[in-house]
Amino acid sequence: MARLLIDQSPSLQGTVRISGSKNSVLPILAASLLAEGKSCIEEIPKLQDVWIMQELLESLGATTHWEQNMITVRSDELTQYEAPYELVRQMRASFLVMGPLLARLGRTRIPLPGGCAIGSRPVDLHLKGFSALGAEVTQERGYVQAKADQLKGARIYLDFPSVGATENIMMAAVLAEGQTTIENAAVEPEVVDLANYLNAMGALVRGAGTDTIKITGVSTLTGTNYSVIPDRIEAGTFMVAAAMTHGDVYLENVVSSHLKPIIAKLRESNIQVIETENGLRVCSKEPIYAADIKTLPYPGFPTDMQAPLMSLMSIAQGTCVITETIFENRFMHVGELKRMGADIKIEGRSAVINGVPSLTGTQVRATDLRAGAALILCGLIAEGTTEIQDMYHIERGYEDIEMKLRNLGASIQKIEI
Ligand code: EPZ
Repeated sequence: MARLLIDQSPSLQGTVRISGSKNSVLPILAASLLAEGKSCIEEIPKLQDVWIMQELLESLGATTHWEQNMITVRSDELTQYEAPYELVRQMRASFLVMGPLLARLGRTRIPLPGGCAIGSRPVDLHLKGFSALGAEVTQERGYVQAKADQLKGARIYLDFPSVGATENIMMAAVLAEGQTTIENAAVEPEVVDLANYLNAMGALVRGAGTDTIKITGVSTLTGTNYSVIPDRIEAGTFMVAAAMTHGDVYLENVVSSHLKPIIAKLRESNIQVIETENGLRVCSKEPIYAADIKTLPYPGFPTDMQAPLMSLMSIAQGTCVITETIFENRFMHVGELKRMGADIKIEGRSAVINGVPSLTGTQVRATDLRAGAALILCGLIAEGTTEIQDMYHIERGYEDIEMKLRNLGASIQKIEI
């Protein structure tokens, strides 16, 4: 098992290039199942989750090739409509192949993804959408099955603007007969990225990025070349690393408009953020002020940045309240931060953080992807050495994070136990 060792580091300085978005690549690779002909997807980050998705596509009969930061996929001959439990078990986003398989093959059988550390993660809204499109959806022995001779367009209202449900239903609807309207749709940039890829393949998706998406079904889609957007959560994580170490870091390959809530919150905390053409600079030489945070669907403050911001607030001047409204159990990092000396108290869906002057390094455990990132951030400024166990969580979502941080001056290394 690999662990991360982080010593108290100097202020981070220099330039870091942000990788392609994990949460764009996963639905886009799933969507490549919808098309005949070859798709070349660029800006692919080297992540465990992407590798699992590649394995999943291959298990369904697609042929794939991953070289550098590009994956080519051919889905002309799909030979399987069932996703293997072994892969779905490892990555919930595997569930995103359900829409494409239903649209392309007229039937599918997928293991119900279990919950995870941050919540029960139901898929009821996905299934409600498939039923509305005319599929016969049944569940038995931990699997969900769906079949439909021909999906028919429908009007679907999402009780919650679920990112995954919006994406899965959109992918099913692009080959349905007639018009589909998804109301109260998620408006995240990754939903827009998926819609842009679908349209580049010949789909007719309008309104992505707004709460009402209209899709007119077409008969076939053709593979195409596409480059995914930068990862706004990786960018936010490096912005916090620069802030916490009172550094001066330039982030290349970002879309500032995707980072508005993060930029606003850092500026509220007295951190300088300078936006440029396709990058931004984070500079923090002044004291960091506490600021309240409430996670919301985009364009609100992203839940995936809640843990990294809690690291920043742990050493800010003053007291703040962080409220998590998206997932019911996304405070698993609090216990680990407290072991490093943070002063945090959980009250229901909120955490009250009293900033402390310093933290101390010790052994900690990553409980999930973003919690692991929060521990790295604290390790950069904690006195002594921080050892992070279960770092496989972190490698799921952050490409080469220890190399990128080391290049900015951090004292961090990965050790195999
Ligand atoms: C996506 O997960 C992201 N994952 C998550 O990122 C992100 O935290 C989340 O969106 C919210 O932004 C990928 O894109 C692969 P949701 P997803 O459906 O689609 C409830 C990371 O760290 N819900 O928008 O699963 C659900 O319980 C990961 O990169 C239902 O009730 O999120 C949750 O409370 C973590 N029924 C809320 O909606 C449903 O059918 C948001 O879930 C679906 C969701």
